[in-house]
Formats: sequence, C-alpha cells, structure tokens
Amino acid sequence: MKTVLITGVSKGIGRALMQKFLDEGFDVMGTAYSGDVPEIHERLSIFDLDLASSQSIAACADSVISTGKKIDILINNAGILADEDETTVVVDKLRRTLDVNLIGPVDFTERLVSSIVSGGHIINISSTAGSLELAGKGESHFPLHYPCYKISKAGVNMYTRTLALRLKKDDITVSSVHPGWTKTDMGGEEADITPEEAADGIYSIAVSKPETGGFWFRGERLPW
Ligand SMILES: NC(=O)c1ccc[n+]([C@@H]2O[C@H](COP(=O)([O-])OP(=O)(O)OC[C@H]3O[C@@H](n4cnc5c(N)ncnc54)[C@H](OP(=O)(O)O)[C@@H]3O)[C@@H](O)[C@H]2O)c1
Repeated sequence: MKTVLITGVSKGIGRALMQKFLDEGFDVMGTAYSGDVPEIHERLSIFDLDLASSQSIAACADSVISTGKKIDILINNAGILADEDETTVVVDKLRRTLDVNLIGPVDFTERLVSSIVSGGHIINISSTAGSLELAGKGESHFPLHYPCYKISKAGVNMYTRTLALRLKKDDITVSSVHPGWTKTDMGGEEADITPEEAADGIYSIAVSKPETGGFWFRGERLPW
C-alpha cells in the first residue's frame, strides 16, 4: 500500500486531497495546526504541526518517522495568506508568511527526505502568484496585491528547483504545483474551482512521473 503525507488537511484543498487519496486506496498521514481533524478512516493518521515552530516541525517529523512507514508522496500543502488589502510589504506579515509558507516546509521536508522512497514524489503547493514571469503581466487578478504571499511562493519555487537537482540521483521527483484559484477560506467564494477539482488536478500530477523540477497546473507547464 502506498503512503502519502499531506500538510494542512483540516480544511480547503488539503482536506479534499486527504479524501481523494483515501478514496484511491492510499495510507494517508495528515497534519493539522488549529483545525480538529477526526481520524475518520482506518488508513488515516493525523499529526499536530505548526509550520511556524521549529520545535513542532521536529516533533512532527519524528512522529512520522517513528511510524516506520516510508513515504511515497509528500505534499507540502499548508500555507497562509497574511496580506490583507495592502499593496506594500508589512514586514511582520512577511516574517510570518515566510515562516509558514517557506522556512517551515523546507525544514519539514529536509527532516523527512530520508523517509521518501526511491521513485517517490515531493509536491510543493505553490501558486502562479509566485511566478516571476507572470508577475504584473495581467494574468493575475490581483497584480499589485499580496506581496508577502508572492515572495513566499517564489521562494517555494526555487526550493523545488534546488531540491529537484539534489534528489535526481535518488530518483525522487520534486514539483511545484499550482492548484488553480480555489473556493477555500484563502481563495474566497469568487474563485474558479472547488477544492475537490483542485485535489483531482494535484492527484493526477502526484501519481504521474513528470520531469523533475517543474512547475505545473494540471498537465500544463507554468513559467517560473
Ligand atoms: N485557494 C487558492 O485559490 C489557492 C491558489 C493558489 C495556491 N494555493 C495554495 O494552496 C494551499 C492550500 O490553500 P487553501 O486554499 O486550501 O487554504 P486554507 O483553506 O486557508 O487552508 C490552509 C491550511 O494550512 C494550514 N495551516 C495554516 N497555518 C499553519 C501553520 N502555522 N502550520 C501548519 N499548518 C498551517 C491550515 O491548518 P489549520 O486549519 O489546522 O490551522 C489549513 O489546513 C496553500 O499552500 C495555498 O497557498 C491556494
């Protein structure tokens, strides 16, 4: 049986991903921060994780490792949008955003790399908001907004690239994936797709073996 580890399964895209992988027969390890996630399935285990705390990251990674299970797919999904309506960088929000969206996932992944199987896949949930190429070119609904979030996702994309190069020898694929503009607490009601549709797209990429180090939306390659 294959095992997937997904961060942030309490709601939104993470919750839909958890359900999708359970439906597809995976063993699912999920993490929750403030949300309460009942272990509703015999193939589901939930771990506490605060990506802003190195102590919590270390404890969560140790708990995952102590299960003795090897991870086939790691999905770094959890994230925050701390910017509100401002278009300038509020430094306290930038620190918080980088902690949760970038440094936390990097720390978590690095602690778990040795538990990922050869042939495995690490997926960093990114966003077109983190694309240098697309920034300010009109593709975004919010060209001037969310500077902290955009900076964090650009960093995530570079982590994908650097880790992909490093893990190529171990046959571990590393991808950045844009889920689509999704109706969640983060994406809002106006968004284009449901969390289930986003999860279907991410699942297809996760179980395929795309060229490592890519940035994907469904089957399409996005510009960095
Ligand atoms: N929605 C969109 O349109 C959209 C578009 C592009 C990319 N994305 C990306 O997709 C991913 C999921 O977003 P979403 O829309 O599903 O957001 P969401 O509904 O707001 O869910 C965010 C998840 O992140 C977790 N989280 C928040 N702070 C955390 C922390 N300090 N430590 C650990 N986990 C924490 C939450 O856990 P708790 O509930 O347990 O606190 C929750 O499960 C994010 O990486 C986001 O940037 C979303």
